[in-house]
Amino acid sequence: MQITVHINGTAHTAEVEPRLLLVHFIRERVGLTGTHIGCDTTNCGACTVLVDGVPIKSCTYLAVQANGRQVTTVEGMARGRELHPVQQGFKEQHGLQCGFCTPGMMLVSSALLADNPDPSEEDIRWAISGNLCRCTGYQNIVEAVKWAARRMRETNDADAAPASGGATSASAPE
Ligand code: FES
Ligand code: FES
Repeated sequence: MQITVHINGTAHTAEVEPRLLLVHFIRERVGLTGTHIGCDTTNCGACTVLVDGVPIKSCTYLAVQANGRQVTTVEGMARGRELHPVQQGFKEQHGLQCGFCTPGMMLVSSALLADNPDPSEEDIRWAISGNLCRCTGYQNIVEAVKWAARRMRETNDADAAPASGGATSASAPE
C-alpha cells in the first residue's frame, strides 16, 4: 500500500508491504540510520522514535501505522546547527559512552521534558526505564536529563518539534 510518513517535518511517500516495520522504513527506505536496532524484540529501546510526540519502539510498529503521522528521529532533534537541550545535556554531562542507546534515550527524555519540565530523579528513571544502556550505569544519563530540564526552564524552550520541511519520495517500492 502507499503511505506518507512525515519524518522530521518532511513527507516521505512510498509503496510498502503491510509487514514492513517502521524502523526498516526509516533506516532503509528513508536512509536515516540514527535510529538503531538492538534487539528487534521490544526490549532495548534503541529503536525508539516519537510518533506524534509519543515514544514508540519502531521495531514493533508497522510503517503503515505511521501513515499520515509525524515521526521524530534523532536526526530531527537539532534545529539546524543548534543542538536540542537534551543533546546538549548528554554532551555536557557525559551521558553516553558507545552511543548505541543514545538516540532512543534522548528521544524518550525529550518527550518527558515536553510533558514535565521539572521531573524528579524518579520521574526521569521511570521515563527511561524501557531503554537499556550497557555502558553508563544510567547515572550520567539522569544527570544529562536534569541538565536539559534546567536549561529548558531557563530558556523557556519546551518545544521539541522538528523543523518543517518539504516532501520527498522514499526509494523504490518493496
Ligand atoms: Fe527495538 Fe530493541 S530494537 S526495542
Ligand atoms: Fe553504550 Fe548506552 S552508551 S549502550
